[in-house]
Amino acid sequence: MEQDYYSYIRKIFYRLSYVYDLTDIFIMDIRTEVVDLTDAKKGAKILDVATGTGKQAFAFGRRGYEVVGIDFSEHMLKVAERNNEYNNVGFILADAAKLPFIDQHFDVGCISFALHEMPLSIRKQVLQEIVRVTRIGGTIMIIDYSSSSEKRAGGYFVRYIARLYESKYYAEFIESDLNSLLKGYGIEVTAELSAMYGVARILKCIRR
Ligand SMILES: C[S@@+](CC[C@H](N)C(=O)[O-])C[C@H]1O[C@@H](n2cnc3c(N)ncnc32)[C@H](O)[C@@H]1O
Repeated sequence: MEQDYYSYIRKIFYRLSYVYDLTDIFIMDIRTEVVDLTDAKKGAKILDVATGTGKQAFAFGRRGYEVVGIDFSEHMLKVAERNNEYNNVGFILADAAKLPFIDQHFDVGCISFALHEMPLSIRKQVLQEIVRVTRIGGTIMIIDYSSSSEKRAGGYFVRYIARLYESKYYAEFIESDLNSLLKGYGIEVTAELSAMYGVARILKCIRR
C-alpha cells in the first residue's frame, strides 16, 4: 500500500512538474495570505513540507525568513531550484514522512496542498514529523482543500470537480475530519481563513 503510494505520487508529479506552475495562477493570492497569517518573527526558521515547485517557500523567502523546502519529487524540486532567486531559501530532496531534521528545529512548519495526496497512514506520519521538527509553541500552517466548505460554489467544486483530476487519495481526504486528526497530534487550530471561494482553507495552528 505505502510502496504503491510512493511510486504512484512520484509518477504523477514527474508528469506534472512541467506544467505545475500554471496551476499557481489559481493559488497565487493564497501564498501571501499564508505568510501574513503566519506572522512569524523576523529571522524565523520555516520548513515548507512537500514544497513542490517552491511557490510557498518563495513567498516566505521574499519576507526574509530562513526557509527550507523539502519534497520527494526530484522533478518538482528541479523547477524550484531553477526559479530560486533567494539566498535564504534552500531545497532538500526528502520524504515528508521521515524528515531529516532534529527535533524542534523550526519555528514554523508549513504544508500546502499536499495532505490530500497522501493515504491516511502516510498523512499521520507526516503530521507527526511536522510536529516533531517544529518547536513547542511554534506555528504549523496547513493549507488544503476545504472539506467543510459552507460556500456553495467552493463546496460543489471540492465534492464533485476536484475528484475528477485529483489523486486516488483525495476522496478519503475530503471525507475525513482533518481537525480531529490534527488535535490527536497536538496541533491546535487557532485561526482559519477560507480561500479560493471556499475551495481551500488556511489553518494557523500552534504546536503544543
Ligand atoms: C500538489 S503539490 C503541492 C506543492 C506545493 N506545496 C504547493 O503548494 O504548490 C504536492 C506535492 O507533495 C509532494 N509530496 C507528496 N508526498 C510527499 C512525501 N511523502 N514527501 C515529500 N513530498 C511529498 C509531491 O511530490 C508534490 O510536489
